[in-house]
Amino acid sequence: MGGLLKCAVNLLLCFFAAILLGCASASRTHTNVAQQPFGKTKEGVDVFLFTLRNAHGAEARISNYGGIVVSLKVPDRNGKLGDVVLGYDNLDDYLKETPYFGALIGRYGNRIARGHFTLDGHEYTLATNNYPNALHGGLKGFDKVVWQPLILASPDGPSLKLSYLSKDGEEGYPGNLSVTVIYTLLEDDALRVDYTATTDKDTVVNLTQHSYFNLAGKGDILNHVVMMPADKFTPVDSTLIPTGELRPVEGTLFDFRKPTAIGARINQDDEQLKFGKGYDHNWVFNKQVGEFTQLARVYEPGTGRVLEVFSTEPGLQFYSGNFLDGSLKGKGGWVYQFRNGFCMEPQHFPDSPNQPSFPSVVLKPGQTYKNLIVYKFSVQK
Ligand code: GLA
Repeated sequence: MGGLLKCAVNLLLCFFAAILLGCASASRTHTNVAQQPFGKTKEGVDVFLFTLRNAHGAEARISNYGGIVVSLKVPDRNGKLGDVVLGYDNLDDYLKETPYFGALIGRYGNRIARGHFTLDGHEYTLATNNYPNALHGGLKGFDKVVWQPLILASPDGPSLKLSYLSKDGEEGYPGNLSVTVIYTLLEDDALRVDYTATTDKDTVVNLTQHSYFNLAGKGDILNHVVMMPADKFTPVDSTLIPTGELRPVEGTLFDFRKPTAIGARINQDDEQLKFGKGYDHNWVFNKQVGEFTQLARVYEPGTGRVLEVFSTEPGLQFYSGNFLDGSLKGKGGWVYQFRNGFCMEPQHFPDSPNQPSFPSVVLKPGQTYKNLIVYKFSVQK
């Protein structure tokens, strides 16, 4: 009898344990992240597309090729979802040619003058892929590598972790750099991008995100109204390398402290605007490096969509899509014309490895590089 009772109790315990385990595994997999094939790289490596959806219906599609945000759907003021980023429908188009649509950028966001820098007495040489300078990490930067994906059960929302080991010497940079980027789609329609990196040798790091936004989902971006609480910017030479000066925005066409349409002054006669073919500059914020603050707010009057950009980074590259020229056909057949998208790239300043007065981009063994970027969407009625 005692044996039978024991057995029954055990059975009951097993039953409850199974329910508990079932619940646990259900909550573990209840991430609202779906995975589907997205094709193969030229080397035959399988690449995937991950769909992150929040309870609101907002949706981000992200590939582990280049960590590219392929689409990002958020509501307009009538609650209608629309895709607010530029890009392609399929992997082959990304493999063929892309001006960094939606991609993760590394090891060094933006330009390093003439592809040279010196660190600890060693001179390093990088590919000059944006003649005469190095741009966005080189010929095969982080935007063109396959990242190791892992769907996370984050309490904050559907989440995708991407990891990549950039080997010592890759694209000319020193040190084995171990990088993780976690994308999370928060319930308040914000896409959070969390970067960490460690190295085994002194190196330089400057990671960012290169989504091209168009909050109207069509046409040019000149009616978008931008506000950036930055007192200064870094003027550039004709090759878009900072001169070293931190110039006050006061009295210049670069003053966005009050909300101003992108198109309001972009065609005025100005040497800096000529060099960039429009806005393609680094704005400098009055803050401590590492302090998480708002860097920009962008409002699109037609749809009411608002994008707010927050980051721990000290600078923001605001690029008004001046190199788009109608030669690329994107999602749904949209031919991307001059200034059909803009980028907001939180970063350390361009060419910092050669500019001792700029905040340092050096990462040493034992330190952890961190960068947090949040792109938050809402509407203004
Ligand atoms: C950055 C640069 C621009 C341009 C784009 C990519 O934003 O600052 O000059 O190279 O990337 O086309």
